Amino acid sequence: MSRVEFYRHSLHEEDIAAAGETLRGVFLTTGPRTAAFETAFAAQLGVEHAVAMSSCTSALFLSLKASEIGPGDEVITTPMTFIATANAILHTGATPVFVDVEPETGNIDARLVEQAITDNTRAVIAVHLYGLMADMKALADVCRRKGLLLIEDAAHATEAVRDGLRPGQRSDGACFSFYATKNLTCGEGGAVATNDAHMADTLRRLRSHGMSKEAAGRYTERYQHWDMLELGYKANLSDIQAALLLGQLPRLAAQLERREAIASRYEEAFRSVPGVDFPQVPRGATSARHLFTIWVAPERRDECLWQLQDIGIGVAVNYRAVHLLTYYRERFGFLPGDFPIAESIGNRTITLPLYPRMTDEDVTRVIDAVSEVVAAPRPVAAAGAPLA
Ligand SMILES: Cc1ncc(COP(=O)(O)O)c(C=O)c1O
Repeated sequence: MSRVEFYRHSLHEEDIAAAGETLRGVFLTTGPRTAAFETAFAAQLGVEHAVAMSSCTSALFLSLKASEIGPGDEVITTPMTFIATANAILHTGATPVFVDVEPETGNIDARLVEQAITDNTRAVIAVHLYGLMADMKALADVCRRKGLLLIEDAAHATEAVRDGLRPGQRSDGACFSFYATKNLTCGEGGAVATNDAHMADTLRRLRSHGMSKEAAGRYTERYQHWDMLELGYKANLSDIQAALLLGQLPRLAAQLERREAIASRYEEAFRSVPGVDFPQVPRGATSARHLFTIWVAPERRDECLWQLQDIGIGVAVNYRAVHLLTYYRERFGFLPGDFPIAESIGNRTITLPLYPRMTDEDVTRVIDAVSEVVAAPRPVAAAGAPLA
C-alpha cells in the first residue's frame, strides 16, 4: 500500500504557470508581484500593511529590531514552539523569558505573562500553536497596560480567527511563514502584517540593507539614487515566490474547509480511542488547522511514532519544549520541570498528516493506524534500526 505522506502541497498548475511567467519576464527579485501579493494578503487579513520577507524567522527578528529591542531587554514567549521564535529573540541580543502554556491548547498562558514581566521586559511574542490563535484579547490588554510590544508568531495561523480578531489586528505585527509545509507556501518565505505604517516602513528598509529604495524603486523608472539610512539586513522575498503565493490566496477558504473536515474526522474518531488525547479548539474560534497533533503516553510516544512510520504513515513532532534543547539548557541552565505543561506536551505529542490533498481513504488509514498502534503495542527497534 502507498504511504500517506506527512505533507503534500496544494500548488496548482496555474500557480506554477504564474511563477514561469515571472521567470520569463524581467523582474525576478522583490518587485510588482511582491507588491501585488502584499496588497492582496493585507486585504485578506483585514490589516493595513503586509511586508513580504524571506522567512517567518526574518519576520520575527526584524519585527523586534524595528522596535529596537536588543541587549538587556527581555522578551516573553512560549517554550512550546519551533526554535525560530526564541532564536529570533536571541539574535537581537535580548533574552527570551519563557512562560508555561495552557494544558488544553498548548498556547501561551496569558495569565502567566503578567507575572513574568520585569523592569527589563520590552515585548511579548505569542505563538498561535497548530493554527489556534493565542488569547490575543488578554495579551493585548496586558501589553497595552504595561507598554510592551506585542508580536504574533502566526506561522501556523494564516486563516485563523478568534474573538473576532485575525492575526495582525490587535498586535504590533503578525509574522507568517510560507515554508514548504505551511497552509500558504512558496517553499520558503514570510511576511509581517501590521496596522502600523511606521512599522511597515521600517520593515521594508530593514529587509533590504536599510536602503532608502528597493530594486523596484531604483529601476522601474529613470535611475534613482538610493541612500543607506540604517544598518539593515537581507530578508526580502522574490517575485518568483510572490507569483506562487498570489494565486493561492483565493483558495485558502476552501482548503480550510477541507482541513476542518479532516480534523473533525480525527477528533471524532480519537475521542473513543483510549490513550489518545488531542488539543482543544475553544468554541467560537476558527483554527487554521495547520497541524493535527495527538497526545499519547510519554513512555510510548517514540515507539508509536516509529510504528506509524513503519506502517507507512508520515509523522512529525511539534514540538519538544525549546528550553530543554541542548543550546538553551547549556546557555540558560534550564532544567526539566521548569515549564511542566510544555514539557508534558512535548513528551507526548505526535503530529499526523493533515492537508487538503489527503483523500478520505488516507484519513481512514491514519485513524486505523493510530488506533491499532496506540491500542496494541508491538515490538519496535530503536530509531533507524530495522525491526526484527
Ligand atoms: C511556529 C513557527 N514559528 C516560526 C517558524 C519559522 O518559519 P520560517 O521557516 O518561515 O522561518 C516556523 C516554521 O516552521 C514555525 O512553525
